[in-house]
Amino acid sequence: MCGIVGFVGNKKAAPVLLEGLQRLEYRGYDSAGIAVIKNGSIEIKKTIERISALKEATDNGQTVDGEIGIGHTRWATHGAPCKRNAHPHMGFKSRFAVVHNGIIENYIELKDELVALGVNFKSETDTEVVAHLMELYYEGDVFNALAKTISRLKGSYSLGIICREHPETLYAVRHFSPLIVGVGVGNNYIASDVTALVSHTKNVLYLEDGEIAVITANKVDLFTADGEKKEREPSFVSWSIDAAEKGGYDHFMMKEIKEQPDVIAKTFEPRIKDGKVFFEGLNLTDEKLKSINKIIITACGSAYHTGVVAKYVFEELLRIPTEVDLASEFRYRNPIVDEHTLVIIISQSGETADTLAALREAKNRGAHILSIVNVVGSSIAKASDDVIYTWAGPEIAVATTKAYSAQLIVLYLFGLYAAERLGSASSDTITAILSEIKQLPEKVKKLFEMEESIKKIAKKHHRMGSVFFIGRNIDYGVAMEGSLKLKEISYINSEAYAAGELKHGTISLIEEGRMVIALSAYDSLQDKMMSNIKEVKSRGAFVLATATEGNKAIEKEADQVLYLPKTHPLLLASVEVIPLQMLSYYIALYNGCDIDKPRNLAKSVTVE
Ligand code: AGP
Repeated sequence: MCGIVGFVGNKKAAPVLLEGLQRLEYRGYDSAGIAVIKNGSIEIKKTIERISALKEATDNGQTVDGEIGIGHTRWATHGAPCKRNAHPHMGFKSRFAVVHNGIIENYIELKDELVALGVNFKSETDTEVVAHLMELYYEGDVFNALAKTISRLKGSYSLGIICREHPETLYAVRHFSPLIVGVGVGNNYIASDVTALVSHTKNVLYLEDGEIAVITANKVDLFTADGEKKEREPSFVSWSIDAAEKGGYDHFMMKEIKEQPDVIAKTFEPRIKDGKVFFEGLNLTDEKLKSINKIIITACGSAYHTGVVAKYVFEELLRIPTEVDLASEFRYRNPIVDEHTLVIIISQSGETADTLAALREAKNRGAHILSIVNVVGSSIAKASDDVIYTWAGPEIAVATTKAYSAQLIVLYLFGLYAAERLGSASSDTITAILSEIKQLPEKVKKLFEMEESIKKIAKKHHRMGSVFFIGRNIDYGVAMEGSLKLKEISYINSEAYAAGELKHGTISLIEEGRMVIALSAYDSLQDKMMSNIKEVKSRGAFVLATATEGNKAIEKEADQVLYLPKTHPLLLASVEVIPLQMLSYYIALYNGCDIDKPRNLAKSVTVE
C-alpha cells in the first residue's frame, strides 16, 4: 500500500525515482508523483495512470533536471484518487515537498488549526498538513522544523521530505510505517521496501520507529526526534535484482508459483539437522513451551488460511488447543490471553496493520509472540519475541503463492519442533513427517505437469458465474485459500464451505451447471466427501474434484479429477494448493484480468 522512494546523489534523480516507483507498483496504487529540486525550485509531476505514463511524459525522467527528489505511489485513503490528491504535496510557501505513507489520525484538528492561520489546502489528504506544518515551523533549520512537526502528529507515518532551500539533503522519518535507507557510493536512497533499491545498492539501514534520517549524497545520519545521534551499520540484502524481475514469465504470479519447489526447500533445509528440527536463536525456552496451555494463531487473508491448516497440524501433533483468529477481529474482542498463551503471528509483508495491532494486543496481555514473516526488518518482525523467517524471497504478485507455501513449511516445522520438546508425538511420527517434507519440492514439481490440463479446464470454464469450494479438515483450509485466490485475481465470486455445512443453507444455491470444486484428498474423510459430491451432482453441479493418486472411486462421482501425489495427510495443503493456484491464474488470464495487480488490492495492507 502506498510506496515511497527518494534519492540524493550525483546523477539525475527522476530516472531513479521512476524506476523505484515502478518496482513498488506491486504494492498497489491509484496515482503517483515525483518532486525534484532544480535551481532552487521544486518541480512536481503527477499521474493517475501507471508509472509508465509518467515515464513516457518525461522521457524516462530525462526531461526533469535535478539530483535530489522524492516519489510516491498512492493508494487512496483520504480523498479520491486524482492528481490533486496524489503525492508529493507542497507546503504553503512551496519550500517543502512531502511524501507520506500511513495515516495522520489527528489531521482534521491540525487542518482546522492551519486553516485558521490562513493556510489554503489544495488536497483532501491527511498528508498535506505535514507539508504546511513544516513551513510553519521552519526558521532556517529543517531538522528542527521536522522534529516540531512530528511532535504534532498522531497515527502512523513514514515520510520523505525535501526543502528547496537545502537541495543537498533528503529527510526521512519512520513511525509505525516501513521505510529504509539504501546506502550507496556518492548516491543514497530511501524506499518503502528493498525491491525499489536493490538494483542500486544492497546495503540498507532499516529505520526504527521514531528515527529521522538526514541524507546527503555521501552521508547518512540517524537521529532520534530529540536530536540524539544513533550509530548503526547497514545490513546486507542477500537476494539479487533477478528475484524482483519476471525472468521470462508473463506475470510474477506464475514465476512465483514455479519458484515454490525451491522456496520450500530453502525454508526447510537449514532447519533440519540430524533428523531433527532446529531453529536458531529462539527465545522460546523448553520451560516456557511446557508452560503453554493455548496457542492462538492470528493473521489476515492467505496468511490466516495457513493458520487454519496449522490448527489441524498443531492439535494433532501437540494436543494443545489451538485457535485461529482473523487479526482484524482479534483486536476488537476481549481475547483470553495470558503468559501461558503462545500467539503465532503470520505475515508475508510483516507490515499488515491489523496483524501488527493484534500482535501488540497479545503482547500487552502477556503472551509470548512468535511471528512467521518474510520481510527482514519489518514492523512485525521487530515487535515479536521470536521470528522465524520464511525466506521466500521478494513476492511481487499481489496474490500470494510462494509465501503461502513457505508459511506452511515453517508451521509444520514448528509443530514438529514443539512436539519433540513436549514429547507429544512419537519419534517415528516426527521422522515420517520430516521425510515427507523433504519430498515436497519434487512432488510440487510433478504437479506442474498438470499445467496443460488445468489450462484446458480454465479455458472451458473461465466464464463460470460463481463457484463453491468444498472440503473437510485440511481440505477445508485449502478450500479457503483456493477460493480467495480465484476471486482476488479473476473477480469471480466464490465461496469456501466446510462440505458438511453445505446442506445447512448454501445448497439452495446449487443449480444446473454451477461449478463446485470438491477438495477430497484427505483420504480418511473421502467417503464423506463422496456423499457431498453426490448431493451437489444430483442438483446439477459440475464437480471438479481433487484426490490422491490411485483413488479411482472418485471418478464415479466427479466430472473431472485432479490427482495429487500422496504425502502425509498433515502436509496435504502443500500439494493441494498448487493446482488451485494454477487454475486461478489461467481463469484470470482467460478473463483478461490484471493478474499481478488486481483492482482495488494492495500487496501490503498498512491501513485498517
Ligand atoms: C493473498 O493473496 C492476499 N494478497 C492477502 O490476503 C494477504 O495474504 C493478506 O493481506 C495478508 O498479508 P500479509 O501476509 O502481508 O500480512
